[in-house]
Amino acid sequence: MSNFPQLVFSGVQPTGNFHLGNYLGALVKFVEMQNNYDCIYCVVDMHAITVAQDPLELSKHIREVTAAFLASGIDPKKHIVFNQSQVPEHAELAWVFNCIARLGWLNRMTQFKEKAGKDRENASVGLYAYPNLMAADILIYRATHVPVGEDQKQHLELARDIAQKFNNDLADSIERNGFGGGFFPLPEPVIQGPATRVMSLRDGSKKMSKSDPSEYSRINLTDDADQIAQKIRKAKTDPDALPSEAAGLAGRPEADNLVGIFAALQGVAKEDVLREFGGQNFSSFKSALVDLAVAKLGPVGAEMKRLQADTGHIDGVLRDGAARASAIARKNMTAVKDIVGFVR
Ligand code: TYM
Repeated sequence: MSNFPQLVFSGVQPTGNFHLGNYLGALVKFVEMQNNYDCIYCVVDMHAITVAQDPLELSKHIREVTAAFLASGIDPKKHIVFNQSQVPEHAELAWVFNCIARLGWLNRMTQFKEKAGKDRENASVGLYAYPNLMAADILIYRATHVPVGEDQKQHLELARDIAQKFNNDLADSIERNGFGGGFFPLPEPVIQGPATRVMSLRDGSKKMSKSDPSEYSRINLTDDADQIAQKIRKAKTDPDALPSEAAGLAGRPEADNLVGIFAALQGVAKEDVLREFGGQNFSSFKSALVDLAVAKLGPVGAEMKRLQADTGHIDGVLRDGAARASAIARKNMTAVKDIVGFVR
């Protein structure tokens, strides 16, 4: 990859139940990266409608995710925070990518298979083409780094494949239009830390997810202290004491998950947690986890609620972000049109 300016892009779907997995797998990293990079953080509302949404709920959830961004400490003045549907170039580039990506590539996407389930004939075309829109989200800004949880890895690989194929197929035109070295960077996934895949509190083999019917499977960011405490106390464990080293977590998914959550909330490695709690039983570890989770998440949840009450402020942040995102997106889309050969 040649010398593209470093730029971070990531997105979160406004589909409700913003949870601890989203927070630790994505948001905490968004906040960290804003110290070292220019960042664009997007509420991907067009992705949300790949499955049916109640319009009133959708608007509420767009503001909920925006509030989560701001409450976690993302600075919308230094960086860009906006919702996807306000910048039409995402959809425009996605169409070009629909014509670049191959059916065979999309057929391999495990998330489509999971989400479509058995009744694949009845899934929306949008759900199938979702990864192409995601590639467009990133590449319309020519972003180089994408902080995400583990579950997005395959989509990121597809985005790299699309960028590569566009650069190869249109190499001559890219060159003619003055973009030597390829037009798109190959965006790098940033999947790091002890909580890249937070699991359900009820079942250590399942990802913590917005759509799990059990409220006890996840901690939502807006849960109050009592709810957080109750969910952690009820979390599934095994009968053994905690091991003293990370290797001892193998084959113990629930223990591994709770230790990972503790480590991520504390900003340390799992080894550090085990050094402190190795040999102790779950009841004392869970008490410490409740205290830590309430201390870390409580203020974020409270700030989210405060922000969500002021929709005028939230909408203003999104509009301002969209205007700044549009300026970049428009310029890059113009270049794409020239490269493809469209007349304008
Ligand atoms: P979404 O909305 O499902 O999730 C938002 C972010 O949270 C991460 N995440 C998790 N991390 C750890 N443990 C979990 N249990 C967990 N659940 C979710 C996700 O990995 C993600 O980082 N396709 C994306 C949204 C998207 C996007 C993009 C992301 C659209 N365009 C462009 C990056 C760049 C999604 O559905 O995330």
